[in-house]
Amino acid sequence: MTPRPLLYEDEASIAILDGIAFAIGPWSAAAVAEEIRRPGACGLGLQDGQGAWMGYALGWSIAGEAELLRIAIHPDHRGHGLGGLLLRAFIERASGQGAEAIHLEVREDNAPAIALYEREGFVLGHRRRDYYQDGCAARLYRFDAAPKPESPADSAPGTSP
Ligand SMILES: CC(C)(COP(=O)(O)OP(=O)(O)OC[C@H]1O[C@@H](n2cnc3c(N)ncnc32)[C@H](O)[C@@H]1OP(=O)(O)O)[C@@H](O)C(=O)NCCC(=O)NCCS
Repeated sequence: MTPRPLLYEDEASIAILDGIAFAIGPWSAAAVAEEIRRPGACGLGLQDGQGAWMGYALGWSIAGEAELLRIAIHPDHRGHGLGGLLLRAFIERASGQGAEAIHLEVREDNAPAIALYEREGFVLGHRRRDYYQDGCAARLYRFDAAPKPESPADSAPGTSP
């Protein structure tokens, strides 16, 4: 099973997956579209053999810095390492777009996500108290990536897989 780059035509179905995956603050279709289409977008999706979405990761990679904005696995498929598969693919693609550092922010009460990030080598940097509306703290993590030479395919988000 191999993640593939997200395409513009995936926007609506990824927004549906996001709504299923996130109990708090799901993204609208417009928000997903904006992130897939932004310059430096770095998006990957994972589908089963029938084309149903199992998960996705979305962020950006510009000028040596990347940010993972979203990673989600469909609730039916969690706990089998697919989050790790997608996260490693995101790191690979972001570094292929020139990223030397990958950043992310996560709610401190999101134990599965924190376990995933720390297992895959993300290092805790800052902690922001009372960051979210409900008072939950935010943790900011960083991953130091080995930058790779940019290829034309890597720098063209939303195009062919
Ligand atoms: C975070 C998420 C992507 C992980 O996907 P996944 O496919 O289950 O990930 P993996 O199977 O690779 O790893 C999950 C890790 O969480 C751990 N975990 C699962 N449930 C847990 C819990 N309730 N408490 C603590 N750890 C937990 C697993 O044990 C595993 O860690 P390990 O390998 O060290 O044992 C998935 O839970 C998800 O989609 N969550 C909702 C969306 C979200 O919160 N995304 C992150 C913020 S953008």
